[in-house]
Amino acid sequence: MAIERTLSIIKPNAVAKDAIGAILSRFEAAGLRIVAARMLHMSKEQASAFYAVHQGRPFFDELVDFMSSGPVMVQALEGEDAVAKNREIMGATNPAEAAPGTIRADFADSFTENAAHGSDSPENAAVEIHFFFPEGVCERTR
Ligand code: TYD
Repeated sequence: MAIERTLSIIKPNAVAKDAIGAILSRFEAAGLRIVAARMLHMSKEQASAFYAVHQGRPFFDELVDFMSSGPVMVQALEGEDAVAKNREIMGATNPAEAAPGTIRADFADSFTENAAHGSDSPENAAVEIHFFFPEGVCERTR
């Protein structure tokens, strides 16, 4: 399996629950190492730009309002099969369908307030990592 990177966001509702540490622990326990991290409160413009692919969809305005409603914790994760592994740890987009023990099953409040974001392909991961970390990420040799 290839070593990949993926972009992860702990969304405002999970930050508000003080679940940052619990969620980051799950990544580390699964072999996904943090190679970049930053906490920020996105503007509506930043949230719109990040989710530009969803512009025009019925949930877009609610999604942008939510993602700019409070601070988020953003990290680049690195590990074997990182994109798929992160999405497995997060659970299904709709928390009602998320498997027990996943981040979304444990921390989501609604479909929109679903606690976490994870890139859906290595190609999108590269774009999303550059969006938040244009200066690049750290080399982790240990
Ligand atoms: P999407 O990229 O389809 O899912 P994922 O985050 O699992 O990659 O959608 C982006 C976010 O938009 C999703 O995390 C929650 C929100 N969303 C809704 O609020 N309603 C919807 O019907 C969909 C499809 C997404």
